[in-house]
Amino acid sequence: MKYLNHITEAIGNTPLVKLNNVTKGIKPTVLAKVEYLNPGNSVKDRMAIRMIEDAEKAGILKPGGTIIEGTSGNTGMGLALAAIAKGYKCIFTLADKQSKEKMDILRAVGAEVVVCPTNVAPDHPDSYYSVAKRLNEEIPNSFYPNQYDNMSNWAAHYESTGPEIWEQTEGKVTHFITGVGTGGTVTGISRYLKEQKPEVVTVGIDTYGSVFKKYKETGIFDENEIYAYATEGIGEDILPKNVDFDVIDTFVKVTDKDGAVMTRRLAKEEGLFVGWSCGTAVYGALEYAREHNLTEDDVIVVLLPDHGTRYLGKIYNDDWMRAQGYID
Ligand SMILES: Cc1ncc(COP(=O)(O)O)c(C=O)c1O
Repeated sequence: MKYLNHITEAIGNTPLVKLNNVTKGIKPTVLAKVEYLNPGNSVKDRMAIRMIEDAEKAGILKPGGTIIEGTSGNTGMGLALAAIAKGYKCIFTLADKQSKEKMDILRAVGAEVVVCPTNVAPDHPDSYYSVAKRLNEEIPNSFYPNQYDNMSNWAAHYESTGPEIWEQTEGKVTHFITGVGTGGTVTGISRYLKEQKPEVVTVGIDTYGSVFKKYKETGIFDENEIYAYATEGIGEDILPKNVDFDVIDTFVKVTDKDGAVMTRRLAKEEGLFVGWSCGTAVYGALEYAREHNLTEDDVIVVLLPDHGTRYLGKIYNDDWMRAQGYID
């Protein structure tokens, strides 16, 4: 009989799918790494199980323990699946801008969800970072993975996603493009690919309202860059330790609207029912390809982090899209 002992064993080995329609007029081959085919429907499954297994090995996470994490939703889902496999409890803090679907999905897999205000500074006691830290201090036998600064995050991608992309493209990848949040995805994959082929260009996709692009270009952490934006999962108001600016060649910023509209096009024109940051990454990739006159010899891999179900009430809802002014 061929079966897995637990759904977490289905993590990884996601397909690379050619984009055929949204890429009209673009010369390079654009291949999408479709991460919603992980069991938790996002790229975060990979690092979540790795953070838990590394913590177990280090003796930080003990039997019967509680995992407490600040998450935009997807890491929580990955942690919850691993927690079910291994018998841990989960409490997740989320900013109130995250979609309701993400909160409901986390509750569906047995997690307790604490909703925190979005528009407060990271060091404010009510921010989702601070509440997670406080709960970790208060609850005995609890473990706070801290995906932002936990090096197991990028290591998971260095060991799985990076090698997969290298093998799937038979080393022909010339550009790797992905959204940057904690930085685990971009750092792990880019480190691996550049070790195989130093000419690989890595483009990080950033949001307006985030500090990354300016920090890369000037070395300045500019608080004036920070303001509320709607795109979920990418861009930051902090500099996570998982972002290695040395392996990111450049950043491209994409608006909430351009990302949202492209996400809907991916569903309709490519059959890829993906999440918001996926459209953002593809929009940025196509803009980069046009501006840098990439040719037929170039192979762009763009990573699509999660699934469209998490955004049914937002970008896949016409009324919501109209209310935001994203569509007529
Ligand atoms: C939807 C979505 N896209 C992209 C990212 C960014 O990935 P990373 O945190 O590895 O930079 C995240 C991270 O939370 C996410 O939830």
